[in-house]
Amino acid sequence: MSEPATEHVSVMPDEIVHWVGEIRPRTIVDGTYGGGGHTRLLLDVLADDDDDSAGSPHSTGSLIIGMDRDPAVIRRDDRPDALGGDRRVELFLGSYEKSPAALAHCGRTHADALVLDLGLSSDQLNDRERGFSFTIEDAELDLRFDPESGMPAYQWLAYTDETDIANAIYQFGEERYSRRIARQICLRSKQREPVRTVGDLVEICRRCVPRSKNHDIHPATRTFQALRIAVNDELAILQRTLATAADWIAPGGRIAAISFHSLEDRIVKNAFREDPRWEVLTKKPLRPTDAEVQANPRSRSAKLRVAQRTALPSS
Ligand SMILES: C[S@@+](CC[C@H](N)C(=O)[O-])C[C@H]1O[C@@H](n2cnc3c(N)ncnc32)[C@H](O)[C@@H]1O
Repeated sequence: MSEPATEHVSVMPDEIVHWVGEIRPRTIVDGTYGGGGHTRLLLDVLADDDDDSAGSPHSTGSLIIGMDRDPAVIRRDDRPDALGGDRRVELFLGSYEKSPAALAHCGRTHADALVLDLGLSSDQLNDRERGFSFTIEDAELDLRFDPESGMPAYQWLAYTDETDIANAIYQFGEERYSRRIARQICLRSKQREPVRTVGDLVEICRRCVPRSKNHDIHPATRTFQALRIAVNDELAILQRTLATAADWIAPGGRIAAISFHSLEDRIVKNAFREDPRWEVLTKKPLRPTDAEVQANPRSRSAKLRVAQRTALPSS
């Protein structure tokens, strides 16, 4: 049975094409392939195979390596009649942290560009079985990018003690009512009615979080973000990847990273600042235009930072 086509609209597409295209890359890692929108656009800026001035000395034919942790994404597009069927695209199931292994599999040591478009796609948000959207209340609270490995969020809540749940909700969601929420989650477990569905958690958040003044943020927003980050270990993966990316991105190569909340953005900003092998090209993060936000409201919190690998040798 074929997987449905994507509904995801790529964020800051022109900016990604501009900042990556400028260096005429020969090897690009699209670390968060998702709907494949950025990969599709980047095909147009890949160096031609006969373009000698382009790319790192280590690469061979022009290639985009698309990686995603979500098996449904790779199943959907790794087919002859989809983007994975293009000879310039290789798709891999797995975390972008494994980029060096994917490069090695393609006979390369270095990439010229890494694109990260963090968070989740509209396809995942709309999937009734993933638990990402708090409007689909009867869905199991799963929240994993890869539902075939690790622990769904409802199990994580059942195995984790109250203090650690509260700390995760505070640290990853910046939710000031984290302790109240954690207490209610654990109370339900003690009463043998553990949180299982999206609706169970939404109901707790509604009781614990006072409505924001202008009602612009749903009371469950921060808690869902926190649990998703915890279950997928998102921030640690981002941090580890950026800390070592200069080892496998060729001098002159670039990272373009789009983040959607301050915790991600801080990690990107600090990783670029702290490593002299990166020259920051965007002193301030770039934001989507008003027209893009109007056309694609999901883009409203996006921040794009770009850095270029200097010629300093790997440490
Ligand atoms: C916002 S979407 C990307 C959309 C894509 N850039 C496009 O234009 O269609 C983010 C994707 O990253 C994936 N993802 C999240 N963390 C990941 C990780 N550590 N490694 C690989 N993929 C990851 C998610 O499964 C999701 O499909």
